[in-house]
Amino acid sequence: MKLNIAIDGPSAAGKSTIARRLAHECGYIHLDTGAMYRCIAYKALNEKLALDEEAALGAMIDRTEIRLTPQGQVFLDGVEMQDEIRSNAVSMAASRVSSLKTVRQKLVERQQKMAADKGVVMDGRDIGTVVLPAAEVKIFLTASPQARAKRRFLENQQKGISSDYDQLVAEIAQRDRQDMERVHSPLRQAEDAVCVDTSDMTIDEVVATIKQIMAQKS
Ligand code: C5P
Repeated sequence: MKLNIAIDGPSAAGKSTIARRLAHECGYIHLDTGAMYRCIAYKALNEKLALDEEAALGAMIDRTEIRLTPQGQVFLDGVEMQDEIRSNAVSMAASRVSSLKTVRQKLVERQQKMAADKGVVMDGRDIGTVVLPAAEVKIFLTASPQARAKRRFLENQQKGISSDYDQLVAEIAQRDRQDMERVHSPLRQAEDAVCVDTSDMTIDEVVATIKQIMAQKS
């Protein structure tokens, strides 16, 4: 029986990496909802739209196609997105546009359609609480701010991007605050979610832990 797996948690907790691995090993489809908010933020920045103009952003979403492939590619209006949606500027802008009710409603509706056939590992901030409240497995993935900043730092280093550790800690803290304090669908652990603190765990250990939880449900 195919399940739906909801993975939520703060930024840089390893959600996408874990969700991708888990989906690959289980033959499930990984849907990175953060990439959808990032695409909207990227397009809004390019079109010089104000990031708090709810009606204009809503109209823009209606004429925007976002396609997530089973191979993990992200297409915005037919163009493949890579590092351009992962910059700090886009991360901060994504966090801002995602606080708007209209933006969330329109993207949540698309996400729910994508998961209708089950067999999906979806990661984000509101998957267990709003997008897929009936998901069979809900995981709240977290890690200390220091562990998350260190991972981002190493990730950037691998990509040849130089970054300042203290600045990363501050940016992660700011994004957490924005995501947790917003009025619409704030980041919080669903009541029936299992919390996994990955600060001192390897990727393999986290994937194995979630697989055990899946085994109990299927
Ligand atoms: O997960 P990622 O860091 O790529 O997400 C970028 C931003 O998009 C987050 O900081 C958050 O503000 C927003 N987001 C959201 N709901 C989701 C996924 C992402 O609000 N389901």
